[in-house]
Amino acid sequence: MINHRGPEFAALLDDITAGLRWALRTDNDVLIFPASGTGGLEAAVVNTCSPGERALFCTVGSFGDRWAAVGEAYGVDVVRLAMPPGEAVDPEDVERILAENPDITSVFITHNETSTGVTNDIRALAAVVKSRGKLLCVDSVSGAGCIPLETDAWGIDIAVTGSQKGWMAPPGVAMVAVSSAAYERSQTARCPRFYFDFAREKKYQDKKQTFTTPAVAVLYAMQEGLAIMREEGLEAVWARHARVGRMVRAGVEAVGLKLLAAEGHRSDTVTAVHSPADSPEALKELLTVLRTQYGLVLAGGQDSLTGKIFRIGHLGMIDDADVYTILCTLEQGLVDVGLRSRVGLAAAAAQSASRAREAEPEPAQVR
Ligand SMILES: Cc1ncc(COP(=O)(O)O)c(C=O)c1O
Repeated sequence: MINHRGPEFAALLDDITAGLRWALRTDNDVLIFPASGTGGLEAAVVNTCSPGERALFCTVGSFGDRWAAVGEAYGVDVVRLAMPPGEAVDPEDVERILAENPDITSVFITHNETSTGVTNDIRALAAVVKSRGKLLCVDSVSGAGCIPLETDAWGIDIAVTGSQKGWMAPPGVAMVAVSSAAYERSQTARCPRFYFDFAREKKYQDKKQTFTTPAVAVLYAMQEGLAIMREEGLEAVWARHARVGRMVRAGVEAVGLKLLAAEGHRSDTVTAVHSPADSPEALKELLTVLRTQYGLVLAGGQDSLTGKIFRIGHLGMIDDADVYTILCTLEQGLVDVGLRSRVGLAAAAAQSASRAREAEPEPAQVR
């Protein structure tokens, strides 16, 4: 390991934070903490809220629920906007809740909900939150660096992400982009905190150090991941994820499987699929065959979705060839466990989806 209070570390930190600003599209500080993504979620809460203070937590799945639970653990007066599995947050609901609860000071929203494969329209949601002058915190653990996230242009005060997702590095570093309004809020926020205190961390990171011992080895991996991303170009990274997402969805649907996420909100980094099996045990058998016979690891569902869905992760270092492998293997596994009788449908659908472009989204309405 290098001396983390010496010049090599200063250069490493400088390079990484410049890369993160580039990837998160922000001129704000991006603080790094030795922690998993959940540490970043906790940092956002404890630096912006006080016990008893009302805050809105919009949740579309397990990770949104987790963020609200962090708020509750610190005594925040949590107002929950919870959507059924597969649905996204509707900006009109946020608008209504903020109108009904003028004492809400901050809004917490998941960008890309990994447990359901839903991507929220952060641009539209941010427009509502910012028009009411609230602080906006976004969990983009599994979105940032893969799908568009315009931290400054959309007015995001705190954006959280984690090294093990789109950054193509091992787990162990949480990254938190912090606006000047969020720093200002942290001066009056009274939630107890020590490890994740923004003010102290900023003081150190301004000196090109970190308060505690940093996760040096993970940071080297992140530096390489960012270099790979810079070589490809950010828009190209986004376009590749959009293409891969389209291919996975087309392939899965061609086999007659049903997607969990509502149309228009389907994630380009993770696809959640309704179980084709008639029992949780039969789904488990499929996932076990895929893992043990073919080395394909697909995730099951979490919490209330356990035994009901499976999930395909497709973020970071992934390209068309990986998608074909995943889809063909999935089809073969379905045949092996008797849930399908033939293979060969998914790859063809994925191939045409790789060339097709999904309809461009409607331009945002001017409010
Ligand atoms: C959207 C989202 N938020 C938060 C987390 C929590 O991150 P970690 O498991 O690194 O603590 C995850 C992890 O997968 C996630 O996908």
